[in-house]
Amino acid sequence: MKKSVVVLGTQWGDEGKGKIVDLLTERADAVVRYQGGHNAGHTLIINDEKTVLHLIPSGILRDGVKCYIGNGVVIEPTALIKEIKNLEASGVDVQSRLYISKAAPVIMPYHITLDQLRETKKGKQAIGTTGRGIGPSYEDKVARRSIRIGDLLDAQLLKEKLATVLEYHNFVIEHYHQAEPLSFDEIYQNALQQADFIRDMCIDVTGELHEHLDQGHKLLMEGAQGSLLDIDHGTYPFVTSSNTTSGSAASGSGLGATHIDYVLGITKAYTTRVGSGPFPTELFDDDGAELAKRGVEFGATTGRPRRCGWLDLVALKRAVQVNGVTGLCVTKLDVLDTFKTIKLCTSYGDQAFPGAATEWEAVKCEYQSFSGWQSSTRGMTDLNKLPTEAKAIIDFIEKFTGAPVHMISTGPDRCENILLVDPMS
Ligand code: GDP
Ligand code: IMO
Ligand code: MG
Repeated sequence: MKKSVVVLGTQWGDEGKGKIVDLLTERADAVVRYQGGHNAGHTLIINDEKTVLHLIPSGILRDGVKCYIGNGVVIEPTALIKEIKNLEASGVDVQSRLYISKAAPVIMPYHITLDQLRETKKGKQAIGTTGRGIGPSYEDKVARRSIRIGDLLDAQLLKEKLATVLEYHNFVIEHYHQAEPLSFDEIYQNALQQADFIRDMCIDVTGELHEHLDQGHKLLMEGAQGSLLDIDHGTYPFVTSSNTTSGSAASGSGLGATHIDYVLGITKAYTTRVGSGPFPTELFDDDGAELAKRGVEFGATTGRPRRCGWLDLVALKRAVQVNGVTGLCVTKLDVLDTFKTIKLCTSYGDQAFPGAATEWEAVKCEYQSFSGWQSSTRGMTDLNKLPTEAKAIIDFIEKFTGAPVHMISTGPDRCENILLVDPMS
């Protein structure tokens, strides 16, 4: 029996993680977010009703499932409280089921200011961040000056830590960026109010997760972003500021590496990317426009149009390796329904797997073409009904990457899936 299953993205994010986590939590006792922050946007569609989650784990719509935000997540209290209140307004019981790690770093207002000032200063070289303060908050974590959730709950400690760290960041804001310094009193008073709101939800998450394991409970670990946005293995510097690959499911929650029984790697049947940076299979033609239109490719967090391209099997294979993927889930297969020809990138030519930004830019993709099926797969739940052309693509993905396809998603709704092997059982 699988006790802990990691669900993560193998591309540049938005692979459909939220949908799959929501689906699989039917058979989980708890769902854990372990990295990233409210830069994530995970969409759940249940009976035509859409919910977008940014920080709260995608198990929250399943009654009785406990939801944890682990130490590896950076938490912006304003965004968290807004998300809790929105869900509660639509009748979801959140506060009795959500637990927040006291060891998680807080995203403070100066992190958001710095993120946005830096992007502006970079001009054309901007990373295209979500502007949520993610990078600066992780920098403070590594620099050992973070205000963590546990510090937020202690008014005196918060006052002392905030005074020191704000002095440091205000110096940069004022003298490097020539912008207005932030007010200590405003940040402090606001933080005290936020602390009161979240106090009862803040716990030792690692300890609780081990209690779950001791009781034989099943845990679902929900990744954010995608493997190509990983700070080490992605398209650096056009990446996010955390490890998005499977190792951080352990470090970002306090599980041991040996507690992870299964890694589900999610990939779209094509590729998208939001923000700047290399994208070898990007399309600028009618096919790209068709993918964007049929896939409704707009960012769930910032609303920006997503760049679209063919599935990149070279990058997917690397993601399978780096994450130790047990099984793949191919999502949005239905988006390809209208295409006469579908291409998969099978080689970067002479180029070894890129390790530098310039190498990424130099990649020239070689493609293998497949016939499309030009009929509807939308909502299909039976592999036997899938057109042979679609099956041929699934088979090719398995052979090329060495990872079996265990799930296929054929529509945005919770129930639109072909389940070949259940990662939870
Ligand atoms: P996440 O960040 O990985 O959770 O993905 P997002 O929610 O940002 O983006 C995925 C989008 O695709 C959402 O709008 C989903 O509703 C939608 N989606 C997920 N799976 C499928 C699918 O199989 N087919 C179609 N057509 N849409 C899907
Ligand atoms: P989910 O979990 C897609 C991208 C941003 C930018 C880069 C760095 O929904 O898949 P950041 O704000 O993290 O410093 O921005 O990473 N990015 C995402 N792209 N989906 C996401 O999350 C993303 N989270 C960050 O667009 O290019
Ligand atoms: Mg998303």
